[in-house]
Amino acid sequence: MRANEAAFGRLALLPRVLRGGGKLETGVTLLGSRAAMPVLVAPTAFHRLAHPEGERATARAAAAAETIMMVSMAATVAVEDVAAAAPGADLWFQLYVQPDAAFTETLVRRAEAAGCKALVVTVDSPALGLRDRDRRNGFHDLPDGLRCENLRDGDRVRPIVMSPDLTWEHVDALREMTALPIVCKGVTHPADAVLALDHGVSALLVSNHGGRQLDTVPAAVDLLPDVVAAVGGAVPVLLDGGVRRGTDVLKAMALGAAAVAVGRPVVWGLAVDGERGVARVLELLRAEVENALVLCGLTSVRDLEPGMVRRSW
Ligand SMILES: Cc1cc2nc3c(=O)[nH]c(=O)nc-3n(C[C@H](O)[C@H](O)[C@H](O)COP(=O)(O)O)c2cc1C
Repeated sequence: MRANEAAFGRLALLPRVLRGGGKLETGVTLLGSRAAMPVLVAPTAFHRLAHPEGERATARAAAAAETIMMVSMAATVAVEDVAAAAPGADLWFQLYVQPDAAFTETLVRRAEAAGCKALVVTVDSPALGLRDRDRRNGFHDLPDGLRCENLRDGDRVRPIVMSPDLTWEHVDALREMTALPIVCKGVTHPADAVLALDHGVSALLVSNHGGRQLDTVPAAVDLLPDVVAAVGGAVPVLLDGGVRRGTDVLKAMALGAAAVAVGRPVVWGLAVDGERGVARVLELLRAEVENALVLCGLTSVRDLEPGMVRRSW
């Protein structure tokens, strides 16, 4: 987790000067979804732990910022209710493939019916990582009244199963099950990036899960160039992990990311002030991206290129 932020600190931006102005362009189109800013909302679980409105508030703020929200399978508001709370929002549904194939299909159908435009399949979680802070905090289970609403199955709520038995065949099965584009989240090794392409994914999200799965995985932004090279432009490559400032967004995009996503900053905004808090976090990032672009001598995020990033130490 710390490495993700520190790695951005070790990268420096090298601006160009006297290149004229023009209308700023920060928008990106990803898998048919349009985002006005290249900062997406990463999937994070249990938003009602942070604010009573939970994922409804996050979705409204994402819609107001005209960006894409990846709704966690482990949301505390059902995906149908998240969609209803923010009409017009671009939602992608994050899925941990469940060993019960029929139940996985139920989740996919619900995401489709709710209008989600992509499936984000998280592949870095064959088991839950060891979370020292959760252990110290004594966090075992959701408090009374909060549930993973996407996992309701008749009268019961299923547990989230992190299965070590998953293989690329499960990605193939999803590919056959749905016409939705599949984003493979949590690829870190370039060899896996190539395999993901072989298995027909539509985008990759380079991520070490914000440091919550295997400890000591390299920083996401340090992994990015090798994955981008392996993918060779075949599909968009996204990044999450440690993005805190607009300059971080520019650094990742200069190194080849099509866009980035933020996890913790959204939850912090939600905890501070619900929908307004998330909206504020996204506004700050957008203003910082615009300011950094101008100061780099650019008008569009598309014009960022690797030569604008240097190692500062
Ligand atoms: C509280 C919390 C819950 C998370 N829940 C999920 C989840 O349900 N599914 C998932 O794929 N990733 C989950 N993640 C990982 C995020 O999607 C993302 O990879 C990570 O937060 C990015 O790092 P950042 O927090 O530094 O922005 C979670 C992260 C946090 C901090």
